[in-house]
Amino acid sequence: MDNYKHIAFNIAHITGNENGYISDAVKNKKISGNGQFTKLCHKKFNTLLNNQKNLLTTSCTDALEMTAILADIQPGDEVIMPTYTFVSTANAFILRGAKIRFIDSRMNHPGMDEEKIEEVITAKTKAIVSVHYAGVACDMDKILALAKKYNLLVIEDAAQAIDSFYNNKPLGSIGDLGCFSFHETKNIQCGEGGLLAINDSKFIKRAEIIWEKGTNRAAFWRGEIDKYNWEDIGSSFLPSEINAAFLYAQLQELEHIQSSRKEIWNKYFKNLSELADLGVKLPYIPDYASNNAHMFYLVCRDGKERTQFISHLKDNNINAVFHYICLHDSPYYYEKHDGREMSNAKRYEECLVRLPLWMGLSETEINYICNSIHQFYNS
Ligand SMILES: Cc1ncc(COP(=O)(O)O)c(C=O)c1O
Repeated sequence: MDNYKHIAFNIAHITGNENGYISDAVKNKKISGNGQFTKLCHKKFNTLLNNQKNLLTTSCTDALEMTAILADIQPGDEVIMPTYTFVSTANAFILRGAKIRFIDSRMNHPGMDEEKIEEVITAKTKAIVSVHYAGVACDMDKILALAKKYNLLVIEDAAQAIDSFYNNKPLGSIGDLGCFSFHETKNIQCGEGGLLAINDSKFIKRAEIIWEKGTNRAAFWRGEIDKYNWEDIGSSFLPSEINAAFLYAQLQELEHIQSSRKEIWNKYFKNLSELADLGVKLPYIPDYASNNAHMFYLVCRDGKERTQFISHLKDNNINAVFHYICLHDSPYYYEKHDGREMSNAKRYEECLVRLPLWMGLSETEINYICNSIHQFYNS
């Protein structure tokens, strides 16, 4: 078996058009936010998501923070979300004084177990945050039905879910609000970036104000008012035109990026599927969900095996990585948690491994990675 110098877990894809668009932004001398490239990105997202309005943000973290303000979260309000998620999902609501009610993962998928949501709903619950782990949809009909029954908001953390669908509806466009990430590790990226998708028109006016430091500057730029004012709380949530120009180049190549990523994902799945006979789990995609090839993961049989597995791959110059540490028993939250066990999420915390997946990962490299994996499990 040939040995590779190093196979990275992620290498950011560059389409080749980023520099040209950035220099257009520089030539225009309009480099701050909400300019030509921001508008081009918004237009493209309007088509992709077919929703009410979209606002670029500097990160998914920022988009989530905007949703917490829009949801009018007050100290003591409760927000429901999976424990197996990125810290920003929770932080956005903690910053407004919320209490988080964490939910375990499903047995067959790291995403939140929808069956465990209703038991934690109280009179103080304000919102359910559905995190589409690995770009694979939560069961949105179940979540929307609960939200309707208890009058709750649904916020989709679609950080990993660009170009992914629930029963053919784009993720991020289904709940009241959706949040995307364009961090360097995502399918399309601009280093750091995000999007707030607004799916209920009642949020549009306030969202634009929060986006622009609490002022109605966006309306001013459109010529709707003759001066802008401090109207509400807000922050500097909008990215510069440099980021928007970069992202626009990526958005134009979305189809090509997605078909290449799916090819890699399918090669992994085909080559590794027999590991299931040994009890190693491969990604599970429910019938209602699409696969956007954001991530290819394996779930080892126990934590010790995962440590040895990652180290075996490292010895073969392959960088495979684990993922989230559960939030319910994190140093920040464990004393605030209500004590419910989260055994499925703990299993993903201890046993899940993500394999390299990036544009340009060659067939030879994929075969080399798969052979190294088989070598581990056959020895
Ligand atoms: C589920 C989830 N939510 C939110 C974020 C935060 O995204 P960003 O880095 O764009 O702030 C991430 C980051 O990877 C994530 O995985």
